[in-house]
Amino acid sequence: MSDHLKTSFHEGVLTLTFARPEKKNALTNAMYGAWADAMEAAAADKAVRAILFTAEGDAFTSGNDIMDFAQFAAGAVPFGEMQVARVLKALAYAEKPLVAAVNGLAVGVGTTMLLHCDVVIVAEDAKLSTPFVNLALVPEAASSLLLPQQVGTKRAYSMFALGEAISGRQAAELGLATAAVPKEAVAKAALEAALHLARQPAAALAATKQLMRDAAAIAALMDKEGQLFTQQLLSAEAREAFSAFLERRPANFAAVG
Ligand code: COA
Repeated sequence: MSDHLKTSFHEGVLTLTFARPEKKNALTNAMYGAWADAMEAAAADKAVRAILFTAEGDAFTSGNDIMDFAQFAAGAVPFGEMQVARVLKALAYAEKPLVAAVNGLAVGVGTTMLLHCDVVIVAEDAKLSTPFVNLALVPEAASSLLLPQQVGTKRAYSMFALGEAISGRQAAELGLATAAVPKEAVAKAALEAALHLARQPAAALAATKQLMRDAAAIAALMDKEGQLFTQQLLSAEAREAFSAFLERRPANFAAVG
């Protein structure tokens, strides 16, 4: 349970809402735990025919809570034991349609989770970024494969290595989003898409998704990324990156080798 992840259910659509707007919906371990619980329960519940991700406030999510990263790094918890690993596997193996309403900023997993969503409605002026290397980390959620496939290798590299953001409009042009619409139209368009999918034949939808993606290969890549992610999480570079964020200063990676 987490107060920062709200759930609601309506006409076959389970809505999961990131609800920590004061922190740009940064995702804590407790939020990931609640998210994984909800997706695992939904997988076993025939009444749930589509899952919709939404967010409160002006951001979709600023990604993993950096304070949590710093704590994990200090305690050396293996990536596989973090709740985020459960979420990623639930995204990889999801058979039901996943829809995202990206109302604004989407950082890190906020963008990489979209690679697993079937319909993504994004605000035209949203900013999507995957600045893993800025934090001395590596791509996750199988994004090391799926993002280059989606946006091209050179652009993916700029996004991973330099933290370059793309706009919602660009995301739609590149095929990372289904459609870019004005910010105020995002929630309605995404809900309509989710309700439409919930009325479609569930078995045919699941089989279509199964044909379109190799879930086991995606999950295996997530494990491989997870090993390197953990290794980097424990590095001096990452400690410097987390300290810099918390102290609101630029990181000095040259000083840590
Ligand atoms: N983890 C922890 N706290 C976060 C956070 C995150 N990922 N993103 C935002 N916050 C917090 C800020 O520390 C701030 O807290 P405070 O009000 O107690 O000082 C609050 O949320 C608002 O964020 P702020 O930075 O003031 O807003 P902004 O509009 O100037 O910038 C971001 C927003 C998202 C661009 C900026 O906060 C940021 O770069 N966050 C880190 C994103 C990131 O690297 N995520 C991990 C990706 S792997």
